[in-house]
Amino acid sequence: MRVTISPLEAGSEELRITALWRYEAFLKDDGFSIADSEAQLGQLATAPEGCETALIARADGQVAGICLLVLHELEPLHNVSPWLASLYVTPEFRGLGLARDLIRTIEEHARRNGMRKLHLYTVDAEDLYLKCGWRVAERFVSHGVAQALMIRDL
Ligand SMILES: CC(C)(COP(=O)(O)OP(=O)(O)OC[C@H]1O[C@@H](n2cnc3c(N)ncnc32)[C@H](O)[C@@H]1OP(=O)(O)O)[C@@H](O)C(=O)NCCC(=O)NCCS
Repeated sequence: MRVTISPLEAGSEELRITALWRYEAFLKDDGFSIADSEAQLGQLATAPEGCETALIARADGQVAGICLLVLHELEPLHNVSPWLASLYVTPEFRGLGLARDLIRTIEEHARRNGMRKLHLYTVDAEDLYLKCGWRVAERFVSHGVAQALMIRDL
């Protein structure tokens, strides 16, 4: 399987597909729409602020995953920046190391842009990030859900 990781392109079919994945996995329960998801990805693709980026993974040419580097989380409970966000790999390509590849590429992008730390929130993927060199900075409960703030020193 040939895996490539590249920036998401504005107006692309990949943008529409990954916006839908992101909406289903992360946004719909927080009152955002599919259009919001598309608009946010479009903004990252056309006018990223600072180190921001949206990267997609392709497996044998087929879009398989997405991961963002953003300055602001949608619901930040901690006054830190930047954030790794919206990591998603479509079910048929899970367990093949694509999330690991996306995380590593986001880290490299942040490092190249002079960042020294990355942050993320996770509910149930803590072990994935621990395996990638992240650490748990804080455990907390938000909207009744136990979460972890994790940090990666770059
Ligand atoms: C979580 C997710 C991105 C993992 O993608 P993936 O491509 O299957 O992950 P990888 O194959 O790169 O896994 C790398 C390692 O992390 C482990 N891992 C993967 N997902 C995990 C999870 N949810 N919890 C704990 N460990 C996990 C794998 O077992 C693997 O370990 P190994 O190298 O020892 O075998 C994918 O399942 C997904 O998109 N889930 C829905 C959205 C989501 O939960 N995103 C995370 C938001 S914080």
